[in-house]
Amino acid sequence: MSNMIEINVCIGTSCHLNGSYNVVQTFQQLIEEYSLHDNIEFKANFCMKQCQNKGVSVSIDGESYRIEAENTREFFQSKVLSRLNIKEKTMINK
Ligand code: FES
Repeated sequence: MSNMIEINVCIGTSCHLNGSYNVVQTFQQLIEEYSLHDNIEFKANFCMKQCQNKGVSVSIDGESYRIEAENTREFFQSKVLSRLNIKEKTMINK
């Protein structure tokens, strides 16, 4: 019973300037790190019509967020892993 999450990151001009490239890279690393290829459908989108806000547009299962590139990991842990009922890995590395 694997649940599937759809993540969209905006790579339109405004979001690109706000660091969407780094957001995409970090998401891809995290998907790799947590082996979530079967659980996450990852897509890039052009302009999600939220340019007026700060940060980079990201949507998770249709829910929109604006995130700062440097907070991508935190965002992933709080919004994505929790949906999949996965615990953060940080405690495992002793
Ligand atoms: S460029 Fe990302 S919301 Fe417009």
